[in-house]
Amino acid sequence: MSLHLGRQVFGNPANAGKVLSKEEAYNLLNDWVKNPRLQLHVKQVAALMHAWAKEKENLSDADAWRWKLAGLLHDADWDQWPETHCRKIVEELEQRNIDAEIIHAIASHGPAHFGVEPQTKMDKMMYAFDELSGLIHAYSLMRPNGYEGMDVKGVKKRLKEKSFAANVSRDEINDACNRAGVTPDELIAFIIPRQAVVS
Ligand SMILES: [Fe+2]
Ligand SMILES: [Fe+2]
Repeated sequence: MSLHLGRQVFGNPANAGKVLSKEEAYNLLNDWVKNPRLQLHVKQVAALMHAWAKEKENLSDADAWRWKLAGLLHDADWDQWPETHCRKIVEELEQRNIDAEIIHAIASHGPAHFGVEPQTKMDKMMYAFDELSGLIHAYSLMRPNGYEGMDVKGVKKRLKEKSFAANVSRDEINDACNRAGVTPDELIAFIIPRQAVVS
């Protein structure tokens, strides 16, 4: 089964800045995603995208919301339409005339799966946060105190353990960090405290 999207261009540049409101975004999410674990995953990635946009890129609130929206919706179709994962949400957002950069960030969140190269910083951070976030969350679930006291060293140990969260591709994590120009250590240190407070 291939999830390749078969194209590199998404949305319409004329829609730049066109976003879903907070209410519209959460309505779509709650309609499409019934699985609480997936809801938590997308909220974690959304929080990381927002924090990175504000803290590292010094973007405006409006731009940070665009980053957050990409995080919030990147897996919106995974729960009910796994066989058309990504295609479904991309087409939905194109129909709603949403900002092309947001749609591209969603379309490129797994280049090995969707055949779309991350290009912008938003794309690259989306890809980098996605899998690392999942692995770190899996680690929190096996620790007696969850995120409390978690450090970079512990996460890196789990990264080296091939059997731990085996579905999370270590190659993809390395590839994503390289593309983003951020070391795994820096990303892990960024993720732990910000992800810990998302529920
Ligand atoms: Fe995904
Ligand atoms: Fe994801």
